[in-house]
Amino acid sequence: MEYQELGTSGIKVSEVTLGTWSFGWPGSDTEQSIKTIHSALNNGINFIDTAGGYGNPKGSSERIIGEALKGRRKDAVICTKVSIIEHNADYSNKRFGYDFVMRNIEQNLERLQTDYIDVYLSHFYNPHVSIEETMRVFSDLRDQKVIRAFGVSKYDIPELQEIAKYTKIDVGQYDLSIFQRRFNEPSAPDHPPASPIEPVLKYANENNISLMCFGTVTRGLLSGRFTGTEHFPKNDPRHQDPIFQGDTFQKHIDAVEKMRPIAQKHGKSLAQLAINWALHQPGVTTALVGGRTPEQMTENAGASGWQLDQEDILEIEKLVKSLQKAQ
Ligand SMILES: NC(=O)c1ccc[n+]([C@@H]2O[C@H](COP(=O)([O-])OP(=O)(O)OC[C@H]3O[C@@H](n4cnc5c(N)ncnc54)[C@H](OP(=O)(O)O)[C@@H]3O)[C@@H](O)[C@H]2O)c1
Repeated sequence: MEYQELGTSGIKVSEVTLGTWSFGWPGSDTEQSIKTIHSALNNGINFIDTAGGYGNPKGSSERIIGEALKGRRKDAVICTKVSIIEHNADYSNKRFGYDFVMRNIEQNLERLQTDYIDVYLSHFYNPHVSIEETMRVFSDLRDQKVIRAFGVSKYDIPELQEIAKYTKIDVGQYDLSIFQRRFNEPSAPDHPPASPIEPVLKYANENNISLMCFGTVTRGLLSGRFTGTEHFPKNDPRHQDPIFQGDTFQKHIDAVEKMRPIAQKHGKSLAQLAINWALHQPGVTTALVGGRTPEQMTENAGASGWQLDQEDILEIEKLVKSLQKAQ
């Protein structure tokens, strides 16, 4: 496993990050989630991503991480996000405001069983709260040593430029994969429309903002494990995701199969190829991958420490372009 610094924070993180969105939902296996965290750590993955809003009840993912890291907190770098205060929908217009963040962090710390958070992110841009206010509360938390670094998730270029007037951020988190070149997609009703990722990659690269990109295996699709006959239950995000429907699903499966010889040439799996591709995009410091099992994290760790050739990258681009034309 190779490690990179997050921005100018001095924090070194593994090139592969464990994403824990799938932890802590009714019916999910807590013991397996804890084993998945331990597997990630044992495979050199020291960076764990979560959010106050993950799981049901909200925050369950953070609670599982807190349990898993008992006695080994220092082995991990934790990234969590200011998200949601439960049972208080009226608060939505104040999301990421000063008091909102201060209340949230108390809850993040309690659930994670820790007295500091390594990386704290604003989960998405809220036009009702000024960026100056959000950056002020993050800077205060860093000065108080409650957080070590901070950043944002899914903010567009104008918002990043606005942030730069007040402070320097170290981290940005965005959707990016071989199949996904736009962020904020699919969008929730109150989310801004999808934007192309390339300008963000360029901006981050030029401004020393470390990108953590997520969705790198497109919910397992890029691992080559699907046949097209799968039926995803209603509580699975793939149930509604357009890429997993009908003819579109099959065409993507066919494109993934055409990438298999490239992975084989490097002695790697398709999941490792997909994560490696994302990891080497400009501005990207670490590729997030949501692992559900210990075995997946052992495999995913193998995405670091090697690099696709230029000819492989061109071949992958060709496949993506012909897929877009066929749609
Ligand atoms: N900032 C944000 O707004 C935001 C949004 C979304 C996600 N995230 C973060 O990014 C993380 C990853 O995103 P994601 O979960 O949406 O997408 P993802 O990483 O593309 O997909 C994760 C899923 O891929 C499958 N998978 C992982 N490794 C595999 C392997 N080696 N072989 C086969 N299948 C494999 C697993 O599916 P099964 O469950 O079927 O095994 C897993 O649940 C999240 O956990 C979260 O931490 C952040």
